[in-house]
Amino acid sequence: MKNVPTYSLLCMILLILNSCSLLHREVVRVTPNTAQSQICGKCHVEEYREWEQSAHRNAYISNDFKEQSENYGDEECLTCHVPNPIYGAEELTARNHNLNEGINCVTCHLTPEQRIAGPLSVFPAHAINMNDPFYRRSVLCGTCHDEHFEQWEQTRELINQSNPEKTILSCQECHMPKIRRKLIAQGFFQYAHKEHEARKHTFTSSPAPYNKRDSWLLIETEVLLEAKEKWPVRIIVSHDIPHALPAVYYGFKEIDFFVALKSFDEQILDEQVLTFSSEYDEYIAPNKKSKYDFYFPSSIKAQTEFLEIKVKRITNNADSDDKIIYFNKRRIYHVNSDFDPDDIMDTLLF
Ligand code: HEC
Ligand code: HEC
Ligand code: HEC
Ligand code: HEC
Ligand code: HEC
Repeated sequence: MKNVPTYSLLCMILLILNSCSLLHREVVRVTPNTAQSQICGKCHVEEYREWEQSAHRNAYISNDFKEQSENYGDEECLTCHVPNPIYGAEELTARNHNLNEGINCVTCHLTPEQRIAGPLSVFPAHAINMNDPFYRRSVLCGTCHDEHFEQWEQTRELINQSNPEKTILSCQECHMPKIRRKLIAQGFFQYAHKEHEARKHTFTSSPAPYNKRDSWLLIETEVLLEAKEKWPVRIIVSHDIPHALPAVYYGFKEIDFFVALKSFDEQILDEQVLTFSSEYDEYIAPNKKSKYDFYFPSSIKAQTEFLEIKVKRITNNADSDDKIIYFNKRRIYHVNSDFDPDDIMDTLLF
């Protein structure tokens, strides 16, 4: 620990320099002229870079928003897409400066007392509210993601009915991936600061599952072999996400299930598609098993060797490409009138 004396010395110098965080007043400017994110990015280099790539940063400048808000004519849209700071706000209001930053650093971090609030215990360079529990809670995200938050609360309630002790993951735990790092990555003072358990500001649109299983989706299949002219295949879908899928209410997203019966040489004999589209308010509800039946012609039964399920997510957002989020192929054994569990192939494709 030979760094300890240097570290303490630096801390002392900083304390004196800091004198109650009078330094860097430009950071905590009063509304309506709050600081530009670039100013925060001078010290919080990594958070800034992550945010810069996020949907939040594009909430105003995206073509879709520009078009759908009638070239920014619809005032109401601006309250969530370019809001004033949300901390303690009774209702959201639109700001009228730094518009192209969409949802920016001060939107989430500036308090009405002109302090910067956050979840950690830190050594500040600006006026700061430390250890603020608001930052760990889903309700922060729910300020604008009202539908997701409502469903998240319902899911929690449902789970707590059978197990009052159980907590569920917060929005942050899934959508802001964990990382250990220094909060400032610029200038001399970075050496005086230690690493923290922090979270990435990517606001990741499809987070990787936490558990060992390789997909958030769980699909069970039943094939009824003694069918007559129609051959039913039943799919039972559930997922671990505390909000419905597809998870957009204002934007567009679709999830398509492609269910195919294939021959021994991989030819598709018949394929049926089930679509869940946000455009038509079709969602897969959280916290329940949903059953869907597909009817195939019995005439293909003799040639059928495989049942294949592909699930694809489709967005109109160029940054989050369409992709397969679930794939499963099973061999159908006619003789045993059942599947062989050893033949199940689930592939990680999130
Ligand atoms: C209550 C807050 C709120 C208001 C008001 C609001 N939005 Fe949004 N908007 C969101 C959220 C949250 C998302 C992202 C997730 C989702 O779709 O649920 C979003 C996403 C979008 C997207 C999708 C962006 C993309 O790239 O696909 C568009 C476009 C959009 N909003 C346009 C509008 C328009 C136009 C209005 C006004 C008629 C509006 N929004 C009003 C919160 C809001
Ligand atoms: C001059 C450099 C500098 C600038 C500019 C700056 N910060 Fe900081 N910030 C710091 C330092 C130093 C810390 C404490 C880091 C530590 O102790 O590890 C900090 C801590 C934080 C924290 C953590 C608070 C907590 O308790 O969890 C947040 C959030 C934060 N800053 C947000 C911002 C925002 C938002 C802006 C722009 C409006 C900004 N900062 C501008 C240097 C800066
Ligand atoms: C001030 C309002 C607001 C707050 C607070 C907010 N969001 Fe958003 N969020 C939006 C809007 C608006 C969009 C849509 C932006 C766009 O695409 O135009 C969005 C988009 C998203 C997306 C979609 C990303 C993508 O790539 O399409 C995710 C995920 C998300 N937010 C997660 C979160 C999480 C997690 C929190 C809490 C830490 C949060 N948001 C807090 C308004 C907000
Ligand atoms: C257990 C993890 C988990 C939690 C907790 C969670 N989400 Fe999600 N969320 C996901 C996954 C996984 C997806 C992507 C599903 C997909 O690909 O269709 C998603 C999708 C989204 C999207 C759409 C992103 C896009 O572009 O398609 C938004 C917005 C979102 N979540 C917001 C929230 C908010 C707000 C909360 C808290 C109220 C929350 N989520 C809690 C896992 C989670
Ligand atoms: C949509 C809301 C939102 C926006 C926008 C946002 N943050 Fe954060 N920020 C959070 C949340 C939530 C946390 C707490 C994450 C956690 O639990 O560690 C956080 C934490 C932090 C921390 C403390 C370290 C950490 O990860 O816990 C710093 C520093 C920070 N943010 C800086 C910034 C800067 C700089 C910007 C702009 C480039 C920014 N934030 C934009 C919501 C936001």
